Amino acid sequence: DGLYLDGTVGGGGHARMMLESSKKCRVIAVDRDPEALVEARRVLADHRSRVRFVSARFDRAVLDPEIRDRGLDGVLLDLGVSSHQIDSDDRGFTFRRGVKLDMRMDAEGPDATTFLAEASEEELTHVFRDFGDEPRARRLAREIVKRRVKEPLESSDDLVAAMTVSLGHSPSIKKKARIFQSVRIAVNEEIDALEAGLPALRDVMKAGGVMTVIAYHSVEDRAVKSAFREWSRACVCPAELPACMCRGHALGETLTRKVLRPTDEEVKRNPRARSARLRAWRRAA
Ligand SMILES: C[S@@+](CC[C@H](N)C(=O)[O-])C[C@H]1O[C@@H](n2cnc3c(N)ncnc32)[C@H](O)[C@@H]1O
Repeated sequence: DGLYLDGTVGGGGHARMMLESSKKCRVIAVDRDPEALVEARRVLADHRSRVRFVSARFDRAVLDPEIRDRGLDGVLLDLGVSSHQIDSDDRGFTFRRGVKLDMRMDAEGPDATTFLAEASEEELTHVFRDFGDEPRARRLAREIVKRRVKEPLESSDDLVAAMTVSLGHSPSIKKKARIFQSVRIAVNEEIDALEAGLPALRDVMKAGGVMTVIAYHSVEDRAVKSAFREWSRACVCPAELPACMCRGHALGETLTRKVLRPTDEEVKRNPRARSARLRAWRRAA
């Protein structure tokens, strides 16, 4: 029984498990990528009567009338990019050769080429350093700013060429993956969506409802960890206040004292899960 939100339904794998684990529950299946919803509809066809699909960013799904009226018994966010997105050259997420850069999960906002053309050197440096863990972030940002005066960076090869010059050698696969990931996070404003979505979704959960988040990047995981920690504290007053002036009670409890990582067996079966970190939190009664 109950109403659950899969805020990142992707190919529908998790939603199917939810629907199969309880024959009575209903799932609201959200994704910002319309192509993902096409696939999820196909995968979840057998459960059609108990799923409703919503094309939206998960932080905006809280505006849904059913969610507002009934409240949620559980929320799942499996962040980041899907295999379908990364494997389809025409979506422009990959560093494979000759791919036109795009990286948008939905049709909203500027694509990766526009981002690389318009972001300031400062912003590019922040993105490569904080989302790409790149020690030579500033050099790469400068190289991009220099190149884009002559012509825009339109393909995966253009971005890899800028990396090759700024790093002084041809980048490893790992390095390419990190830099492309950092651009994707920026293009889709993924950290903003997460930071807005966590408290908004918490507030539409019923007492006892559980929020589970799987993150693939340290910046995402830090945001989840610090939100869950803050919500689990009774007092959030600054230390210098003589008496508690805040809410004075915890909003719930963190269920994962330590972050959960995939087992070796899981990584063998699904190598893309290797960086996954799962945390869960339960709303107080
Ligand atoms: C890792 S995949 C999810 C895979 C899914 N759990 C499954 O079982 O197939 C991430 C999905 O989340 C979507 N997504 C990422 N950020 C989102 C956001 N802020 N709002 C809605 N969907 C988002 C992506 O479009 C992608 O389809």
